[in-house]
Amino acid sequence: MTPSLMRSAAQLVRRRSYSAALGHPERKVAILGAAGGIGQPLALLMKLNPLVSSLSLYDIAGTPGVAADVSHINTPALVKGFMGDDQLGEALEGADVVIIPAGVPRKPGMTRDDLFNINAGIVKNLSAAIAKYCPNALVNMISNPVNSTVPIAAEVFKKAGTYDEKRLFGVTTLDVVRAKTFYAGKANVPVTDVNVPVVGGHAGITILPLFSQATPATNALSHEDIKALTKRTQDGGTEVVEAKAGKGSATLSMAYAGAVFADACLKGLNGVPDIVECSYVQSTVTELPFFASKVRLGKNGVEEVLGLGELSDFEKEGLENLKGELKSSIEKGIKFANAN
Ligand code: NAD
Ligand code: LMR
Repeated sequence: MTPSLMRSAAQLVRRRSYSAALGHPERKVAILGAAGGIGQPLALLMKLNPLVSSLSLYDIAGTPGVAADVSHINTPALVKGFMGDDQLGEALEGADVVIIPAGVPRKPGMTRDDLFNINAGIVKNLSAAIAKYCPNALVNMISNPVNSTVPIAAEVFKKAGTYDEKRLFGVTTLDVVRAKTFYAGKANVPVTDVNVPVVGGHAGITILPLFSQATPATNALSHEDIKALTKRTQDGGTEVVEAKAGKGSATLSMAYAGAVFADACLKGLNGVPDIVECSYVQSTVTELPFFASKVRLGKNGVEEVLGLGELSDFEKEGLENLKGELKSSIEKGIKFANAN
């Protein structure tokens, strides 16, 4: 055995014993788009996650530097960088969770749907590679427009014969993160205690926070306050896009949200009970084939898609109003995936 092989073997044994000592299995997480605005801080946060034993950072450029940088952090996850099509297979092989923040972000004046023309093709190609190299991975889709990119991935997986609706997630955690922050500020309650489900999709009015179910409950908020909180949550992404003035969209809060959701997926895979997060998944909660709602995560991904619970009249109206836009975004994704 060469000295470098011996070092790798020793490293592997050490990581295995560390994972065993913590009582959880080896888990490989791959980030596609890892050198980008979201990808870099997300790589940092996943390197800090004790459930990750192997962290695979893939992008079309820049990953050797990001991987070298993140790899120096003294946590157990072994970090490897992969760059370009030739290395995509190796990046994905054996992955338990694949997080996808690859693609272009919005500039002021754009809708998320304006990103479709570029990002749809990127997501389609990456999904084909996932079907080939890690068909059993849980896929966390961040690339916008999420309302369409998730249906695109589903169609690609169906064509490849690998589709399992339990394993495909649109990441809507940032909407929940925002709703919690804005609610805590307005209701004057400790933000760390707050929970707010957010349902529907991930664009404008398709984002429907259910403040009537927010905890801790408060009667300090008027109907006007709830309307304003709802609008701010729906426009949260645009607020950041405008503040960044042409330099992209949310990256740091998104990396945090992506890390929260990936951690929930890993805990579910590891058999931790009662892991519930909102996510945009295949659904029968409404007549729409994909819909975000609370989801219980388990050893195979989605264990249960939870219903909406009781809605206020304002939320019922919001639900009806979002269906047209969400339906056409889903159909647009399906059509794209099957046409090209
Ligand atoms: P960015 O431009 O900073 O980074 C994107 C990265 O993707 C770049 O490093 C780029 O090289 C890489 N990339 C492009 N094509 C690729 C391919 N074929 N394979 C692998 N990597 C590829 O953008 P960002 O700010 O990180 O945003 C990324 C995406 O996430 C955007 O579509 C944005 O709209 C979306 N987003 C979603 C949410 C959400 O809540 N779901 C929140 C924020 C941003
Ligand atoms: C967000 O909600 O921040 C993201 O979807 C990015 C965007 O374009 O707003």
